[in-house]
Amino acid sequence: MKSKRSEIINAFKAANGKAISGEELGKELGISRTMVCKYIKGLKDDGYEISSAPKKGYVLKSVPKLLYPEEILSGLKTTLFGKNIHYYDEAGSSNDIAKKLAPTAEEGTIVVVEQQTGGRARQGRQWASPKGGIWFSTILKPRIALSAASRLTLTFGLSVAKTMRQYGFDAKIKWPNDVLINGKKVSGILTEVEAEIDTIEFVVIGIGINANMSLKDIPEDLRENSTTLRDECGKSVDRVEFLQKLLFEMEQEYIRFSTRPFSEIMEEIVALSDTIGREVTVNMPNRIVEGTVVGISKTGALLLRKNDGDIEEIIAGRCMYTKK
Ligand code: BTN
Repeated sequence: MKSKRSEIINAFKAANGKAISGEELGKELGISRTMVCKYIKGLKDDGYEISSAPKKGYVLKSVPKLLYPEEILSGLKTTLFGKNIHYYDEAGSSNDIAKKLAPTAEEGTIVVVEQQTGGRARQGRQWASPKGGIWFSTILKPRIALSAASRLTLTFGLSVAKTMRQYGFDAKIKWPNDVLINGKKVSGILTEVEAEIDTIEFVVIGIGINANMSLKDIPEDLRENSTTLRDECGKSVDRVEFLQKLLFEMEQEYIRFSTRPFSEIMEEIVALSDTIGREVTVNMPNRIVEGTVVGISKTGALLLRKNDGDIEEIIAGRCMYTKK
């Protein structure tokens, strides 16, 4: 059910810059004028610019450039992804919050954080998450084997790359979980799974996008050949619109993941791969291997020709290019 607050925002948006009186708003929402005043004050406190003229009423002048749930929901074209949104101005890590919510949350619920103070990357590394980025986690409850969970990372990496491509960025996928623009990392995915033996209880897909920030907003030791959308195109992107488009792409890919052979998704990933043909070092929990990437299999494994000529299939690991 829509909140009164989002009903007011929608009424303003439908009025398209025309004034609406407190009385009209009150009637439309079934609340008193005093309550309307309270909601208007709350919106103003949150950065909505609303002017009021005697006898005419209120006019919405501008909305804040924040990822407020009401803004994401208005115009969101999904049926599952992002239908429930938990929003935080500041928090440790959206993945940690999502993991706590997951047991009772509906599939597709997302957690959005404007600024993470404890953002996490893979293999225990830190993820710089200043204001201006898009940091969010999605809760999923797929009926798949635990061994297939890493395919979700690849699938949503494709969604991120496809969304960026809609904006004209030449986004490529670095196996398994990075998205690059002009060879530099602009997005990473941290997939975390809660499972019992082979039954998945839930999966949390944490996606970080360096959007409206510049490299200097990231501590030097975490920059690691990164870039941001703003640095790449010289202007800010509309983060709300970007997230709406991304959630739509994610939902489409998730439907395909659940109904079609995975090789279909893999074909698109291979076409956008930045990794095939590269000389790499792959870090796995118990060892490190080096070689040249000769392909990515239909199941999403990296096919590595090692220095002894043998080809090894690597299902998961952190991949680093040895040459630029
Ligand atoms: C990586 O590149 O190793 C993965 C980075 C994932 C970062 C995102 S930001 C949203 C979510 N919350 C976190 O703490 N991490 C992920």
